[in-house]
Amino acid sequence: MLKAVNITKRFGSLKAVDNLSFEVQKGQIYGIAGPNGAGKSTVYNLITGFYPYEGKIEFDGRDITGLPPYRIAKAGIARTFQIPKTFPSLSVQRSISVGSRFGAPGGLDSAHVNEILHFVSLETERYQKTGLLNLLGKKKLMIGAALATKPKILMLDEPMAGLNALEIKAMMGLIRKINSDLEITIVIIEHFMKVLTDLTETLLIIETGRMICCDAPEIAANNPQVIECYLGDTYVEC
Ligand SMILES: Nc1ncnc2c1ncn2[C@@H]1O[C@H](COP(=O)(O)OP(=O)(O)OP(=O)(O)O)[C@@H](O)[C@H]1O
Ligand SMILES: [Mg+2]
Repeated sequence: MLKAVNITKRFGSLKAVDNLSFEVQKGQIYGIAGPNGAGKSTVYNLITGFYPYEGKIEFDGRDITGLPPYRIAKAGIARTFQIPKTFPSLSVQRSISVGSRFGAPGGLDSAHVNEILHFVSLETERYQKTGLLNLLGKKKLMIGAALATKPKILMLDEPMAGLNALEIKAMMGLIRKINSDLEITIVIIEHFMKVLTDLTETLLIIETGRMICCDAPEIAANNPQVIECYLGDTYVEC
């Protein structure tokens, strides 16, 4: 469904993404992990058209290389950001409406906005200003706004960062529900190996922009190179 072929991104002399190829199958929950600065978020920025790059990206059988972000979004790719980005003075409902209006000449689809508010459990906060939401609320809102664009694939950038154990459980439930009930393919960048082994079918590990391995998460977590460059030999899952 989403295929990157030999993608490379240089920032000056730094190769943030280095000749990387991978393929996400329709319906999957696909994980991406690797040390800080490995190039994970840059991969999302390339897929969503933020920067020019070398190589090729295909989505749904179509070459999307070099398309601007709005056309990539229209093709069915949505993402969230590592640091929650919301419009602080807008209400939760209005913020989701922004996504819902995206590319829809007919105007606001309020039934769809209501469905999304229900789906991400933000109904009671619908008139609240987004700046007043807690971190979990802001993350659910970002996901809601992304879902409102009716994507085929949703790419999440460290959705668990900063959440407590109970909130992580709730977020995992929401991600599973998006995948199973809405039939949306998921790509998730995450540092928590337990989350990745529980959620994903395939895990891509990258370091300095290059693929270290791509395998079932339990196998990837035991790969000697992954242990050396990322997890460390004293790594204990908690
Ligand atoms: N716009 C940019 N200009 C210059 N260098 C950049 C830019 N964006 C990212 N980089 C560099 O590219 C490398 C990869 O960054 P990236 O944010 O993709 O890493 P990451 O794997 O997402 O890390 P983290 O786990 O800390 O979020 C880093 O060395 C970073 O400093
Ligand atoms: Mg990142």
